[in-house]
Amino acid sequence: MCGIVGYIGKRDAFPILVEGLSALEYRGYDSAGVALVNNSGLSVFKDKGKVDHLKEITSDIENATGTKIGIAHTRWATHGAPSYANAHPHLDVNKRIALVHNGIIENYSILKEKLKKEGIEFLSETDSEVLAQLVGKYYDGDLSSAVRRALLEVEGTFGVAVIAFDNPGVIIGARRGSPLVVGVGDDEMLLASDASAIVQHTKKVIYLKDNNLIELKHGFFNTTTLDNRKINPEIHSLDWDANALAKDGFEHFMLKEIFEQPDTIRNAMRGRLLVDDGTARLDGLNLVLQELRAINRLIFVACGTSWHAALVGEYLIEELVGIPVEVEYASEFRYRNPIIDAHTLVFVISQSGETADTLAALREASRKGATVLGICNVVGSSIARETHGGVYLHAGPEIGVASTKAFTSQLTILSLLTLLLGRMRRISHSDGVTIARALEAVPKQVKKILKQNERIREIAGIYAKHNNFLYLGRSYNFPVALEGALKLKEISYVHAEGYPAAEMKHGPIALIDKDMPSVVLALKDSVYDKVLSNIQEVNARGGSVIAIANEGDREIEKYARHVIHIPKTLPLLSPLLSVIPLQLLAYHIAALRDCEIDQPRNLAKSVTVE
Ligand code: G6P
Repeated sequence: MCGIVGYIGKRDAFPILVEGLSALEYRGYDSAGVALVNNSGLSVFKDKGKVDHLKEITSDIENATGTKIGIAHTRWATHGAPSYANAHPHLDVNKRIALVHNGIIENYSILKEKLKKEGIEFLSETDSEVLAQLVGKYYDGDLSSAVRRALLEVEGTFGVAVIAFDNPGVIIGARRGSPLVVGVGDDEMLLASDASAIVQHTKKVIYLKDNNLIELKHGFFNTTTLDNRKINPEIHSLDWDANALAKDGFEHFMLKEIFEQPDTIRNAMRGRLLVDDGTARLDGLNLVLQELRAINRLIFVACGTSWHAALVGEYLIEELVGIPVEVEYASEFRYRNPIIDAHTLVFVISQSGETADTLAALREASRKGATVLGICNVVGSSIARETHGGVYLHAGPEIGVASTKAFTSQLTILSLLTLLLGRMRRISHSDGVTIARALEAVPKQVKKILKQNERIREIAGIYAKHNNFLYLGRSYNFPVALEGALKLKEISYVHAEGYPAAEMKHGPIALIDKDMPSVVLALKDSVYDKVLSNIQEVNARGGSVIAIANEGDREIEKYARHVIHIPKTLPLLSPLLSVIPLQLLAYHIAALRDCEIDQPRNLAKSVTVE
């Protein structure tokens, strides 16, 4: 969501902060700003718009150079529209402190009224300014005490960075519910809402925990709890290199990430897929075989694309493991009263590991005494830290807001989990080996599909001006239909609905005409013939069909206007392949409509508010 960067060290802070903002821009991006401490006090540069706009308006500032400390922010509006006044950093009324904030101050209106009665004037509509005013009110030269006092009064979530006009030697950072990572460099310290703003400078990081506060000084740091107990945090080493954040010649991160999938799927399997034994090992689950064997029910909790992956997981586990699975939207799960017993295992699935609803669901499940495991991409993220165990995707940073490679990595992990649990129950050795071999072949098959990129672009060209799409699939490919429709919505702003193919006749069929194309997943599986009938129903109403079908399937060409052929695999693994053309189709339609693919309007990569 919003992004925070802070720098204190021996180099000029300004360019480091602005570059850090560019690296974070994918998280949220309707405004950007920087605050620096120099001899004349605080300098603030901010405006609505992207980081590039901030660069333009600051291209000739002289007082920024030479300054060795500052904080910066990219905003994704929650309270108040994007504007100069609402952009961070915010100052207190006496311009003595500057603050950037991620998260939501829930009791901001009560605090604001109180401060107004004390004569404090507000310049913005944000909840964050309330926090700036509170810190300013308490500041008497000791910044960490002022921040501590202010934070003890607020309810809600925060990741904050604060500097003071008369102290070029300290940045205070603190968090509750909104991530903050500290970079420990040579004689310099960085602070950011995610490691992508830090990795260019240092690989040594500290993941700040909830209710922790850190004082960053020139060359050292001091970490305490909000109630001032000393902590010695662990220093981790980042395992990704700075190149992961470059587009590598691709026009967009999303396209680069789509093309990375042969590698990312392979990385998810590495060391985990045991082909000869027809099973998998997932040591990170931290459960012994007896514990896994005792499980008789699974609950998957997730949001967005991760929720679609969970749905595939339900089909996999119920069919091959034979235990009931529930798939829940995290936002619903957290406020329901879910039934969890001693034999229920809860899995939270999240690329970022920071999605607020998923995190809250995790905590709710833990409170109920469940063992909660994670399937997560970002190492050291809140979800990774708060779960009892789990599996990392190892997909590398995903920058495009629309998730692609994380989805296929999640599917890979869910397939491995199915093998592991299934081999303890109903999957025989030979069936296990068949599945493992098919899984092993997937990266090469994905590569083959990617070779059709140009052809998919041509098909996109035919349909790029249409404003409504239907996506249909059944069985394992129903969740893929949902995911294909979501991809198109997210990045091209075209209305698209995903439906179980057979449900079409209970409503969406009324929408079909020549202006509403249907993308149909028609793979050679147990429901193939039935899906063919659905295609004919679309044709009969003047709609046109783009079918995703298996190589060698000639029959489908009689019914579908366009066919994208994909290699054959086991039906249970087919989502790993069938989603690839849908990602490319969405990408090209969005590109042809001139949309901002990596940073679609109104969306954020990691939704850290409820
Ligand atoms: C946001 C992103 C989606 C993502 C969802 C869940 O809505 O735009 O791409 O699928 O959050 O994110 P998570 O990081 O929990 O998988």
